[in-house]
Amino acid sequence: MTTIHVLNGPNLNLLGQREPEVYGHETLAMIESRLAATCKARGVSLAFRQSNHEGELVTWIQAAGLAREPIILNAGAYSHTSIALHDAIKGAHAHVIEVHLSNIHARESFRHVSLISPVARGVIVGFGAASYDLALEAFLSDRADLKS
Ligand code: DQA
Repeated sequence: MTTIHVLNGPNLNLLGQREPEVYGHETLAMIESRLAATCKARGVSLAFRQSNHEGELVTWIQAAGLAREPIILNAGAYSHTSIALHDAIKGAHAHVIEVHLSNIHARESFRHVSLISPVARGVIVGFGAASYDLALEAFLSDRADLKS
């Protein structure tokens, strides 16, 4: 069975209490349980993880990429800074949809550049927690990209 990886970067463990006017009131656990229900109904498995550590994200991206398993990635602030995450996606030929809850292009200028976007298959920003559901739907509706 295909596994879809949802990888979350720094500070996303604080969702629900962190700047709710920007990121909403849903917690990461709530997002995970909704995505898990969708995955179960659609016959794929879900690996949902969060880390505040860049190297851990590199390791997870490499593993999923080399296993030819798709990744939904919200790298948080590392999106704007991490050449290491960019290189991991490229080096492992990882199939990534980049997501952000907020519309990073409508915020501070330091958020306007993402080092993930150039190596992502697609990008979904600004739909709050629904950004994750939309990314999942993009993978599920394009099953040819999933390993059987
Ligand atoms: C974020 C946007 C980033 O700029 C920020 O550093 C985050 C969350 C988002 O989902 O909107 O941590 O990735």
